[in-house]
Amino acid sequence: MKPLTVALLGCGGIAVRYRKTYARLYGVRVAVTIDVEEKTARQAQEETGAAHWSTRADDAFASGIDAVVISTPNYFHKEHALGALKAGKHILLQKPIAPTVRDAEEILVAYRKTDRVMAVYMNLLDHPLFWDLRELVRRGYFGRVGLASARLAHRGGLTWTASEKLWRASVAKTGGGSFIQLGVHYLHLLQWILQDAVFQVQAFSTNLACPHLEGDDLMLAHLKLRNGTLAELETSWCVQEEHFSLMGTQGAVHYRDNRCLEIWSENGPFEGKILRLKGDGKPEHLDPLLPPEWDDEENPLNQHRQFVEALQSGRSPEVSVEQGMTDLRIVEACYESARSGVSVKLPGSGASVLKGEPLE
Ligand SMILES: NC(=O)c1ccc[n+]([C@@H]2O[C@H](COP(=O)([O-])OP(=O)(O)OC[C@H]3O[C@@H](n4cnc5c(N)ncnc54)[C@H](O)[C@@H]3O)[C@@H](O)[C@H]2O)c1
Repeated sequence: MKPLTVALLGCGGIAVRYRKTYARLYGVRVAVTIDVEEKTARQAQEETGAAHWSTRADDAFASGIDAVVISTPNYFHKEHALGALKAGKHILLQKPIAPTVRDAEEILVAYRKTDRVMAVYMNLLDHPLFWDLRELVRRGYFGRVGLASARLAHRGGLTWTASEKLWRASVAKTGGGSFIQLGVHYLHLLQWILQDAVFQVQAFSTNLACPHLEGDDLMLAHLKLRNGTLAELETSWCVQEEHFSLMGTQGAVHYRDNRCLEIWSENGPFEGKILRLKGDGKPEHLDPLLPPEWDDEENPLNQHRQFVEALQSGRSPEVSVEQGMTDLRIVEACYESARSGVSVKLPGSGASVLKGEPLE
């Protein structure tokens, strides 16, 4: 099999956590590592065994490259995605797909004119726990899920100072504040696990403790889903906690700080990828349930591996650009609600989330 040649566009920041995956994936060759910071591009080349390094984004669009992994800041996503599509490349694009729905629409229009694969990177889908929760929901172990909640809160914003490089502090460069950066993860996960779609939102936002951040450092959104679930989603750059809960008529699950799991169901037993419930619906063990490493290429759910395997096998990627667009529309609706003080409806949104196909 001819190796799939990949360009890594944006190699610092979060890409440091996963860039070496591409050196280990079967049937993949890293052609070029690109970053505006020469040192970062060189380090990535060393780590991945890439043939070249570069500081010019255009080098990702050269002939001989099959796919581009875009991990640059949000405000470069449009330029980089359009460049890659024009050059006929497949794309794995970091979330959110763009700072605004308008920019994202331009990407979508260009993508639809090609026969290329374009996927959105959602690292939470690396975690087998979430696949098990989706299966538990699908098979009715929790009965009807009435309430759901998620919180992704980091205190990173407290340490930010004014600087040209601090793109996350700019509304124009990110598209908002904590909510667009953090909320999009659980917004996607929630709809993906419930196989449901958000259709109405009411949100509140503020900036409590991050003077160098233009956007929100705290945001709370209430979400109504089509099948009746009510959900809340909280994000922050100034307080700290991560949690995900589902509460149903026959069971519930709470997962906190990526380790502590509480779960019960009236409907045991269950054997999933990582979770085992006994006949009484209680878990078999209560050890910490840590997420996989981001560069664990042996994890079959690793989203970089999934992207590469989608290209190699002709399968659809797990998170399509349409789904990324749906998530972004909800984010914008939440910001609109926070600004206006009224709830916002999303006619027709979310339908593509329902089409997610099982991986196995
Ligand atoms: N959980 C996640 O998956 C996760 C976490 C953090 C960030 N992100 C996303 O990843 C993207 C990057 O965020 P980050 O935190 O890594 O940012 P960052 O600023 O820490 O790193 C971005 C990297 O891209 C490089 N870069 C900037 N402009 C470039 C250009 N025009 N051409 C080439 N390289 C360029 C920078 O030098 C830097 O190395 C964002 O879209 C963000 O939303 C996702």
